[in-house]
Amino acid sequence: MVSQRIAEILRNGQPDESVTIKGWVRTKRELKEFAFMEVNDGSFMANLQVILNPDLPDYEDILQQLNTGASVEVTGTLVPSPGKGQRIELKASAVRVYGGADPQTYPLQKKRHSFEFLRTIGHLRSRTNTLGAVFRVRNACASAIHQFFQEQGFLWIHSPIITANDCEGAGELFTVTNLDLKDPPKTDTQEVDYSQDFFGRPAYLTVSGQLQAEVMAMAFRDVYTFGPTFRAENSNTSRHLAEFWMVEPEMAFCDLVGDMDLAEAFLKYLFKSVLASCPEDMEFFNKRIDNSVLATADNIINNQFERITYTDAIALLEKADRKFEYPVSWGLDLQSEHERYLAEELFKKPVIVTDYPVEIKAFYMRLSDDEKTVRAMDVLAPKIGEIIGGSQREERLEVLEQRIVSQGIPPEDLWWYLDLRRYGTVPHAGFGLGFERLVQFMTGMANIRDVIPFPRTPLSAEF
Ligand code: 4AD
Ligand code: MG
Repeated sequence: MVSQRIAEILRNGQPDESVTIKGWVRTKRELKEFAFMEVNDGSFMANLQVILNPDLPDYEDILQQLNTGASVEVTGTLVPSPGKGQRIELKASAVRVYGGADPQTYPLQKKRHSFEFLRTIGHLRSRTNTLGAVFRVRNACASAIHQFFQEQGFLWIHSPIITANDCEGAGELFTVTNLDLKDPPKTDTQEVDYSQDFFGRPAYLTVSGQLQAEVMAMAFRDVYTFGPTFRAENSNTSRHLAEFWMVEPEMAFCDLVGDMDLAEAFLKYLFKSVLASCPEDMEFFNKRIDNSVLATADNIINNQFERITYTDAIALLEKADRKFEYPVSWGLDLQSEHERYLAEELFKKPVIVTDYPVEIKAFYMRLSDDEKTVRAMDVLAPKIGEIIGGSQREERLEVLEQRIVSQGIPPEDLWWYLDLRRYGTVPHAGFGLGFERLVQFMTGMANIRDVIPFPRTPLSAEF
């Protein structure tokens, strides 16, 4: 039987319409003359209220099975709702229970649960209001990302998940192997002999699709990736995952200013788009999770981001009237507390920091004439810190070769990347947006584990 989504009914349903819905019971209330239940199918924040009259076939028997968590199909007629909080409700003429849920053991009884507890029931937590709203916003945001780039003629490219290169050079790689770990083949010098491994060489899960995006940008001008990336970073923070999704645009014939302009236009577009497609969910976050969510969205959409150099950022941090846990001095990387101070307290909006010291950034970033800094940019967001990292790329063969060697990377491993500078090289730039950090920023959710359906973090890969 054709059934309607509850979102569609709550938005547009009219009295006297006959409808069928399918979903999961959130609550049931039995009165003397009749009963109510609330049903949710994940399409909308609010539940559809269903009225169950005793003239329903098998009324008593059905009522007994309609416990929180049970799956149901309800057919009936829409009627105006006399109750507060909803415009319309469903008067049932037939109810079918697909599967019951034992009230003694079903963990999601009607009360507020902590996010820590919900993480222990990752297979059920999406049936709660908050996680439901998170994953609807996540979906809307993913869709808006494609829309933004497709409207501008960017090609969506699929970078590999398995790679032989460490793009960021941070050594946070997960190895991919099918060698027998109990007894791996050894070389003469007693090291693991990867020439006998599946790929005939060491291989890893990718930390970034950038190098491959650069290859494709040298054929299609403007491209983007949107896929999972992996980092064996042993940091148990509210902003790090071992598996996270990254969006990486890469543009040929583009410099750092063009890169920053794109990043800013991109974030503005995404906030606007999600506010338009998920207004109820965004209201919910503002009311129940973080009362600055709507103001933040408004701030992003309507204000220019601040743009400052790393050197200026260091000067501002040195002048700050507060003590930081980590030291501040030219040459050291910014820590999350520094990033948050700049965005959250000082400028009260996103800040784009540019021109970082060459020593603390990856080999592919373009060296400036001062030879001390590279054309890097990080977008820092209030509450989150770094949300985007990007740069203009080094397009000059000799300079790139020197950078690769000075970082201790064997140049022959990157022969194909260097070829891009041998044949038709152009100035080009790009960035990576951490998708989960963006969803966190939008929704005000405090922990990154609660904005991805199945978080992967140190010591945790359940579900
Ligand atoms: O700054 P990152 O390391 O930059 C790159 O990987 C570049 N290759 C991107 C590019 O220029 N194409 O990572 C980009 C973003 C960060 O700003 C952050 O938002 C996110 O990815 N990120 C993480 N998100 C969740 N968990 C982690 N462990 C993350 N590490 C980085
Ligand atoms: Mg970074």
